Amino acid sequence: MKSRNFVQELRYAREHRYAVGAFNIFNYLSARAVIHAATTMSCSVILQTSAATVKHFGPQELGTMLRQLAWNAPVNVLVHLDHCTDPDLARACIDCGWDGVMYDGSQLPLEDNIANCRQIVAYAHHRGVMVEGEIGKISGVEDDIQVDAADAAGAGLEESLYFLEQSGVDALAPAIGTAHGVYTGAPKINFDLVRELAQRTDVPIVIHGGTGLAPEVFRALISLGASKINVSTAIKQAYVEGCTHYLERHDGKFNPLDFDQEMNCSIKDVAMAHMRIFHSGEGAAQ
Ligand code: 13P
Repeated sequence: MKSRNFVQELRYAREHRYAVGAFNIFNYLSARAVIHAATTMSCSVILQTSAATVKHFGPQELGTMLRQLAWNAPVNVLVHLDHCTDPDLARACIDCGWDGVMYDGSQLPLEDNIANCRQIVAYAHHRGVMVEGEIGKISGVEDDIQVDAADAAGAGLEESLYFLEQSGVDALAPAIGTAHGVYTGAPKINFDLVRELAQRTDVPIVIHGGTGLAPEVFRALISLGASKINVSTAIKQAYVEGCTHYLERHDGKFNPLDFDQEMNCSIKDVAMAHMRIFHSGEGAAQ
């Protein structure tokens, strides 16, 4: 079901002070579990795929599967490509039915990041697909993308606004001090940048590195204007730890549907816990 397109969905969320969860899924079971969570919460959701996941299945096979799941869902399910550094792969996903793509040119000089974004934006907009861009460098590991803390760089306000104006992206992921993966200490978050960006532009603001952030941090970011929040590691943990626990408790039993059901619950619980904190259900009635 599609009531609002991607950009409308994120703008609506900002207007109503909630965020849409973007959960990184990596197979049929995880995608289905996240949709079950959104269905239970009656909220819109973003199924996000890393470039590594796309390469693993191939854009055609993965796109067909995710589109089918999205079409059958009673809530608005948007399919998004996360952190793609390869313009050809981004174009392949656009051709295979993704609703949005993130082009990550954060490792490039600013003008090259802008130039590549512009090319993807032109291709994507012609096909009704939204584009997310990154400014600054978000640290941590997200599948194939690794940015050491020493190489991370916070985004600046004027640089972000210049990037938005020049690149034409539909959503902005500014590096605000959050990180991909598991936090080893409390992150130092640039809340002021989120506030100032929201005051200066209506382009949706995306928060990366959702796993492990405190509920009050999520709420503060949402109240300041963030409307898409990415969660990946927590979903992977739910899957792998769920497998381990199941095998420990069912030694010698071979019941794949029972196993799938438990993985489904494990991922669904994690996704729902985030959706509650994000107040994602606020968009339900419309
Ligand atoms: P986490 O793995 O920290 O949840 O980050 C997810 C993310 O930002 C994906 O782009």
